[in-house]
Amino acid sequence: MAGKVIALAQQKGGSGKTTIAANLAVAFLQRGASVALLDTDPQGSLGRWFMARRATAGTERLEFSTSSAWGVSYECEKLKRDADFVIIDTPPKVDADLRPALREADLILVPVASSHVDLWATEGVLDLAQREKKQAWLVMNRTRAGTRLGTDVARAAGGMSAGVMVAELANRVVYAESLGQGRGALEAPRGLAGAEVSALADEILRLL
Ligand SMILES: Nc1ncnc2c1ncn2[C@@H]1O[C@H](COP(=O)(O)OP(=O)(O)OP(=O)(O)O)[C@@H](O)[C@H]1O
Ligand SMILES: [Mg+2]
Repeated sequence: MAGKVIALAQQKGGSGKTTIAANLAVAFLQRGASVALLDTDPQGSLGRWFMARRATAGTERLEFSTSSAWGVSYECEKLKRDADFVIIDTPPKVDADLRPALREADLILVPVASSHVDLWATEGVLDLAQREKKQAWLVMNRTRAGTRLGTDVARAAGGMSAGVMVAELANRVVYAESLGQGRGALEAPRGLAGAEVSALADEILRLL
């Protein structure tokens, strides 16, 4: 059976696309699945993460490739023959270049770092997803417990044309630290972030 394709997309830079891509890869690997990462972002952050990981991790069922926007379909078809999950990380912009990634995706995740600015920035992706007749799912990232902003943003998100994932990632240093080391929050000693990533992975598996 062909692997499932998950695309991370959001116009706003720094919303957590690469962080979520890397953390999901670790979550799926830990569950015994094989994962192929496909980076279409010229910034190459996911590639840096993969290289840092390769320097320390043992052999694992994780592949990495890059592709231009127009090469996504071809690359995806190839990767999903061998991998259980293909995770596509995309650059912080929304234009026609994003369409092939959205078209290939079985699931589109749109990270929203808890601010209204981030939420407003989702409109472009949601519009493109609709044109591809795909449902997109917002993932609340960098949430801060007990803040009104988080509740406001979550409520506003509920009124948009996208689904909102129940699982959220809080604002935690461990996400930034582990990313820099080529690891995921699930591999860090502190447990809370790992539990959040696990919950997100569970929810994704239910949707796929
Ligand atoms: N939940 C979180 N808690 C703390 N830091 C986070 C969290 N999510 C992301 N970050 C940090 O925020 C920064 C931006 O995250 P990331 O690179 O994943 O965003 P991005 O959407 O991929 O950015 P770009 O659009 O530039 O590709 C990184 O330094 C990352 O470590
Ligand atoms: Mg990125």
